[in-house]
Amino acid sequence: MKQTLDQLNAYAKRYGFIYQGSEIYGGLANTWDYGPLGVALKNNIKKLWWEEFVSKNPLNVGIDSSILLNPKTWEATGHATGFKDPLMDCKLCKSRHRADSLIATATHGEVDADGWDYSQMYDYIIEHKIKCPVCGGLDYTPIRDFNMMFKTHQGVTADSVNDIYLRPETAQGIFLNFKNVQRTSRKKVPFGIGQIGKSFRNEITPGNFIFRTREFEQMEMEFFCKPGTELEWFVYWKQFAMDFLLKAGLKRDHLKFYDHPKEKLSFYSNATTDIVFDFPWGFDELWGIASRTDYDLGRHQEHSGEKLEYLDPDTNESYLPYVIEPALGVERLLLSVLCDNLEEEELEGGETRTLLRISKALAPIKVTVLPLVKKYQSEKAEEVYKQLLEDFEVSYDDTGNIGRRYRRADAIGTPYCVTIDQQTLEDETVTVRERDTMEQIRLPLGELNVYLFKALK
Ligand code: GAP
Repeated sequence: MKQTLDQLNAYAKRYGFIYQGSEIYGGLANTWDYGPLGVALKNNIKKLWWEEFVSKNPLNVGIDSSILLNPKTWEATGHATGFKDPLMDCKLCKSRHRADSLIATATHGEVDADGWDYSQMYDYIIEHKIKCPVCGGLDYTPIRDFNMMFKTHQGVTADSVNDIYLRPETAQGIFLNFKNVQRTSRKKVPFGIGQIGKSFRNEITPGNFIFRTREFEQMEMEFFCKPGTELEWFVYWKQFAMDFLLKAGLKRDHLKFYDHPKEKLSFYSNATTDIVFDFPWGFDELWGIASRTDYDLGRHQEHSGEKLEYLDPDTNESYLPYVIEPALGVERLLLSVLCDNLEEEELEGGETRTLLRISKALAPIKVTVLPLVKKYQSEKAEEVYKQLLEDFEVSYDDTGNIGRRYRRADAIGTPYCVTIDQQTLEDETVTVRERDTMEQIRLPLGELNVYLFKALK
């Protein structure tokens, strides 16, 4: 059964995946901290993405660029003036709203105001009496631009000469380094550059737990190809992204491609698709995939004065490559993984267990070591724990009865439990219990690491 957002939030807090940010000071709205299991899960998600898109992908290479970029970057891309949302305030309770979101929520997503001008949005809200969701009033300020980039100052003086922005996407650090990477990696077009890192957006309406926050991580790839071939690559990366999500353990019937209609595409894009996922509130954007033509390289070439064209060594032709960009949020994928893998399973005899049926690659802990009776077997169990630590993410649990400890391991998605009992002390064998089937086998200790290594692959 589908979990509600509140259930997911409570689960994530209870088991140490995600906590409210700055909790002891009463929290800081819409910030979240990742606990021991949360950071392990995040790292595994990033590792899987990095392997699929970069380290094990012959087409691509990786980069780690700065969060702070020369402010001219954002003038060139249009972010300085165009990265904005339509903001309106409720005059009665002073709450702030995104005008297009008010319309979308009030019409249950049936009216999409994206692309409307501000007076059109304002008139629609007043005509249809869309009330302030906080106080129920209908007295708004006119709609105005709200730039979502976080501004700060570089250096010691807080003057406008030193204004600088926290990047709102990781993509631009890739474009700025296109020539560097191409030259030093000696990659030939077509090739891609992947990057994982923090991005910041001063969202007007963050929310839905970790779905929309002001600080988040992105896994982005810019794939550079010859103009004219971009739509073939677009289809290729769309399918590649979908296959990746299935590998990450999402259910195919909870995923859909949403192709942006031609008339709603950004002026520089000739195709854009979102992969949308069935979140607790319905289908919403998980992954944006856009064919961005040569817009970004062209703008940076123009504004920096640096030649960013690629000289094709085979044809001697010079051109600005076209770009396909699959851009995914780490936290959104993490939330989707919890949504699709957390279940309350009915067992024989009317019992139930909380089970995180997460893929083995993403499981925060791969194996847990359990001495059956702490008093007699903990010394041996600690030995086994150390033996496994060499190869896996392992935990050690000796508190509570064995049934409870199995349940705890199931609830956080640990694929294997290794139990040390009296027989282990006599013949050096252990019990290995598998999470989903709960089947148990007996194995010699000497074979344990190799067995788990194969089972986890
Ligand atoms: N470079 C293109 C770009 O950033 P985007 O659609 O704005 O495109 C890409 O963002 C992905 O980043 C989204 O599909 C989503 O997964 C994630 N994302 C964007 N804004 C976010 C936010 N405020 N909180 C969490 N994730 C976000």
